[in-house]
Amino acid sequence: MQEAAYLDWNNSFEILNKAHESGLFVLIIGPKGTGKTTLVKDFAKSKSARLDSINFSLRTRESHLVGTKTLSDGSVGFDEGLLVRSMREGSMLYLDELNSAEADVLLRLDEALDDRRQIVLKESSGETIQADKDWFVVATINPLTHVGTKELPPQLLSRFPVRIRLEYPPEKTEFEIVKRHAPGVPDDDLEQGIRLANILRQAAAVEEINYSPSMRETISYARLVVSGMPPAAVAAIVFGNVYAQWGSVEYQKVSDIITSMFGG
Ligand SMILES: Nc1ncnc2c1ncn2[C@@H]1O[C@H](COP(=O)(O)OP(=O)(O)O)[C@@H](O)[C@H]1O
Ligand SMILES: [Mg+2]
Repeated sequence: MQEAAYLDWNNSFEILNKAHESGLFVLIIGPKGTGKTTLVKDFAKSKSARLDSINFSLRTRESHLVGTKTLSDGSVGFDEGLLVRSMREGSMLYLDELNSAEADVLLRLDEALDDRRQIVLKESSGETIQADKDWFVVATINPLTHVGTKELPPQLLSRFPVRIRLEYPPEKTEFEIVKRHAPGVPDDDLEQGIRLANILRQAAAVEEINYSPSMRETISYARLVVSGMPPAAVAAIVFGNVYAQWGSVEYQKVSDIITSMFGG
C-alpha cells in the first residue's frame, strides 16, 4: 500500500534539519504509533540519504552492529555489520527502540557515538574505522512504561543532545493525518473513532485499562469504515476486542464506552 507523506505538525523536520547541519545526533522519545519511523524515513528521503535501520531487541547482538567473521575456502573474512558499514559510507543510521537493547550492545555503540566517531574492529583486523563526515544517527526510545524497555545509560543519552518528544497529536491533527491514509472516510465517523481512541489513551494513562491504542489503530479503523463496515462494528473489532485478553471486566468496561458512543 502507498504510504501517505508525513504531516509535520510539531516542527520536527526543522529540528532534524538543524541537528543534521550541526552534526548533532537526535533522540526521538514517544510511545508506539506516534509517527517516529515515518518521520525519520521521510527526513532521509528529503536529504536523499540512504537510511540504514536497526530495530533493537533483547536479541540484538554486538555482531549485528559490528560484524562477524566468516570462513570460506579456508580463508577468514569479515562480514561488516550495519553500524560499521553506515559509518564508513556516511549513511543515515536509524536506531529504533534503542532502550530495548542489552547493556553490552549499548556499550559497543557508545564507542562509535562519542566525539571521535570511531570504532575499533577488535573482532577482525583491529582496524579503526573512522566515520564519514556525513554520518548521521537518529535513535528512538519508548517511554519506560513500555514492556521490555530499560533506562539508557546517561553517557549514551548524552550522545544524543537533540531530543524530540513525539506524543499523540491533538484530535484535529490526528484527524488530518488519518485522512491522508484513508481519504474516503466520512468526517463524523472519523471524529468519533479518534475521540474513542483518546478516551482509551487517557484511561490507559491512569492505568484504568491495560492498552493504549496508537495511530495505527485510528488509521485501521478509518480504512475499515471506508471498506463499508458499520463504524460501531469496526470500533469493536479495532478498539474493543483487544481488551478481552485482560479479562471480561476490562473488556466490558471498554465495550460499554463503545456502545455509548456508537450505539449498539
Ligand atoms: N505526522 C504523520 N503524518 C503522516 N502519517 C503519520 C504521522 N504520524 C503517524 N503517521 C502514521 O501512523 C502510523 C504509525 O506511525 P509509525 O511511524 O510507524 O509510528 P512509530 O514509529 O512511532 O511507532 C503509520 O501508518 C504512519 O504513517
Ligand atoms: Mg517505529
